Amino acid sequence: MSSTPGFSSGMSLDGNSGVDPTVSQFLLSLRGIAKNFGAVQAVQHVDLDVPAGQVTALIGDNGAGKTVLIKTVAGIWGPSSGQIYWNGEEVHIHSPREAEALGIATVYQDLALCDNLDIVQNMYLGHEETRFSMLDEIKMELATKKTLSELSVSTVKSVRQLVGSLSGGQRQAIAVTRAVMRDSKLVIMDEPTAALGVAQTAQVLALIRRLADRGIAVLYISHNLNDVFSVADRIAVMHLGTLVSHGPVANYDTTSAVELITTGETKRTPAASAPAN
Ligand SMILES: Nc1ncnc2c1ncn2[C@@H]1O[C@H](COP(=O)(O)OP(=O)(O)OP(=O)(O)O)[C@@H](O)[C@H]1O
Ligand SMILES: [Mg+2]
Repeated sequence: MSSTPGFSSGMSLDGNSGVDPTVSQFLLSLRGIAKNFGAVQAVQHVDLDVPAGQVTALIGDNGAGKTVLIKTVAGIWGPSSGQIYWNGEEVHIHSPREAEALGIATVYQDLALCDNLDIVQNMYLGHEETRFSMLDEIKMELATKKTLSELSVSTVKSVRQLVGSLSGGQRQAIAVTRAVMRDSKLVIMDEPTAALGVAQTAQVLALIRRLADRGIAVLYISHNLNDVFSVADRIAVMHLGTLVSHGPVANYDTTSAVELITTGETKRTPAASAPAN
């Protein structure tokens, strides 16, 4: 009997011999994901596991392929090759709606919120609650207040405030809260704190932690290693379109993370690039 490959070994099982059994342990697993744009290979051979209830930080230099990778999971485009597993089952995600139906919410940096609508309206846009063919404003308002309070989002004055009047951090919080209200199981955040000040960043990081503590898987892209080390349970590093390392945050320190980001390898902590659980 051959031994089972390590879970972050970067190797898929041979396609002929069936599915890698480790995928059933994770909410989301990517195997051999590649994405080309014509001759440009933006992402190649990515094997990544994302567990529920943990924050997985996806890091890498500009152009490393982070956004392209998460957009394959978010249904913006299909992978050129490779498989996506959701709770151990292979899925084909053809659109953001299909991703949402699985429980995948993506919060992009340029948030798709409507400035001219208030917080409640943004929460329910396209999913409005109705009662006797009328919008059930009270139900939506109460549910919005409840979720904001459960997530300790306390800085917004009124749920009837127009989103256009909110600060960047508050807008992030609303976008994340909306993902929670839609019962998302995986929340993907692409540089949610890039435009935020210190206090607002701290609020969003705390919110990310609370999502994970509620059992939600968070896939969090960031360039800020301080933020990454303060909130992540796991780290995944991309370099020139490939995933060069991933494992528990304890396997990394700032120096090894910077080396992996800039060169794709590190000698500093051998554990960082070794299979680990
Ligand atoms: N729609 C597209 N068409 C062609 N090439 C693209 C497209 N989107 C991204 N790319 C290319 O794919 C590569 C990876 O880009 P990606 O946006 O994933 O980088 P990133 O890791 O998110 O970088 P950053 O940290 O700067 O956001 C880049 O070389 C980019 O030019
Ligand atoms: Mg990007």
